[in-house]
Amino acid sequence: MRSSSLLLASAGLAAAAPFSYPLANGFPNLNSTEMEQVYKLAGGTPPNGALPSSLKPNGVQALQLIAANELFEVAFFTELVHNITSKVRGYSDGNHKYIIDTLTSVINQEEVHVLAANGVLASANKTTIQPCQYDFPVSDFRSAIALAQTFTDVVLGVLPAAQGLFAADGGDEAALVPIVGSIIGQEGQQSGYYRFLQKKVASAAPLLTGGAPQFAYTAISQFIVPGSCPNIEVIGLKAFPALTLESTPRANNSVQTFSVSGAVSAANATLVYISGQNLPVSVRVSNVTMAGNKTTFAASFPYQSGFDRGLTLGALVAGANKRFNSTADVAASTLFGPALIEVD
Ligand SMILES: *[C@@H]1O[C@H](CO)[C@@H](O)[C@H](O)[C@H]1NC(C)=O
Ligand SMILES: *[C@@H]1O[C@H](CO)[C@@H](O)[C@H](O)[C@H]1NC(C)=O
Ligand SMILES: *[C@@H]1O[C@H](CO)[C@@H](O)[C@H](O)[C@H]1NC(C)=O
Ligand SMILES: *[C@@H]1O[C@H](CO)[C@@H](O)[C@H](O)[C@H]1NC(C)=O
Ligand SMILES: *[C@@H]1O[C@H](CO)[C@@H](O)[C@H](O)[C@H]1NC(C)=O
Ligand SMILES: *[C@@H]1O[C@H](CO)[C@@H](O)[C@H](O)[C@H]1NC(C)=O
Ligand SMILES: *[C@@H]1O[C@H](CO)[C@@H](O)[C@H](O)[C@H]1NC(C)=O
Ligand SMILES: *[C@@H]1O[C@H](CO)[C@@H](O)[C@H](O)[C@H]1NC(C)=O
Repeated sequence: MRSSSLLLASAGLAAAAPFSYPLANGFPNLNSTEMEQVYKLAGGTPPNGALPSSLKPNGVQALQLIAANELFEVAFFTELVHNITSKVRGYSDGNHKYIIDTLTSVINQEEVHVLAANGVLASANKTTIQPCQYDFPVSDFRSAIALAQTFTDVVLGVLPAAQGLFAADGGDEAALVPIVGSIIGQEGQQSGYYRFLQKKVASAAPLLTGGAPQFAYTAISQFIVPGSCPNIEVIGLKAFPALTLESTPRANNSVQTFSVSGAVSAANATLVYISGQNLPVSVRVSNVTMAGNKTTFAASFPYQSGFDRGLTLGALVAGANKRFNSTADVAASTLFGPALIEVD
């Protein structure tokens, strides 16, 4: 299966016990000795300058979403390294010292990201995010790396939106803009490595695809064991129902098939793509068929009209011929989505 639909089809595929915290080192609760060890394996420390003492509601939401995301990533990469080193069937392609060393650094770097995001929340007396249990829809090294690339690309889309919020809020939050910028660079290094492992061009496109908090939250939610989160609802976002890509897009113009659980009227829906830093592209929905509660439909995929290599987001919105000028507007109108489409 493709990583794009894997993300949205987690239910039913994961057979193993869900991933549960704490990690072997005690994370997310580390004493000073354990913290030093994390910094050593990560290759650096969290920022040690003054932290914001006050945050506005948008800033709080952005930091809580970042913390929730980084907690999920720590879980994913911890389980991935465990699968490789304990020689789980399907993971032998990852059994090389350089790969294990790199992924081990990533685990520790993501731990530092969690500590940084929750640390800022704590310093402003806001609710920090606690870890959930997770299930991942992959069972071999290849699909795990493809999935890692996809969710890292989703994060790369939403972190610039967080920078925009911090800048707009001003005050103490302005200091977070360059810090988040440094995390964007770090996640970009990761995405390049996951692309390299798949023999894709390492740097996907000149300008990467933007995102929205609702889309990132929906993507993370696919991996969370329902009911296992102590407090993720404080973030105040809701996951959209899935928009599943049923066909395999390539780097050319084509017609693709999608499905959703629920009703869709061709006369009252538009499929919108977000790719690069371009205006959203709207296309018609056609050939709608419903079987039980599942609706399948066709829509063109106009890749050659300027889509990025790498991630494209798809979202189904209400209304015919809907046009949008921003990703945020698309997210605000989304009924089903996002489809996470990785072309090339
Ligand atoms: C932290 O915990 C570890 C293992 O539980 C222990 O060996 C170490 O001495 C502790 N360090 C401090 C500073 O408490
Ligand atoms: C680890 O392997 C188990 C067993 O195949 C699988 O269920 C799980 O999704 C894998 N996790 C990752 C991150 O690859
Ligand atoms: C921290 O927040 C809690 C609840 O939001 C409030 O009761 C408490 O007074 C706050 N503490 C400080 C030091 O602002
Ligand atoms: C699109 O590209 C794929 C392979 O790259 C090819 O199999 C397919 O025929 C192409 N479709 C069109 C419409 O060009
Ligand atoms: C049908 O789909 C809708 C929308 O996703 C959902 O709310 C509803 O529970 C589904 N019904 C069944 C019987 O699956
Ligand atoms: C729609 O369905 C018709 C008849 O089944 C078929 O000929 C046509 O190729 C389909 N179009 C798309 C865009 O899937
Ligand atoms: C179009 O879809 C929206 C959202 O599902 C619904 O509220 C509205 O009534 C629909 N309009 C028509 C004309 O079907
Ligand atoms: C998008 O921008 C154009 C040009 O500025 C404007 O005419 C149009 O009303 C905008 N559309 C929406 C949906 O905001």
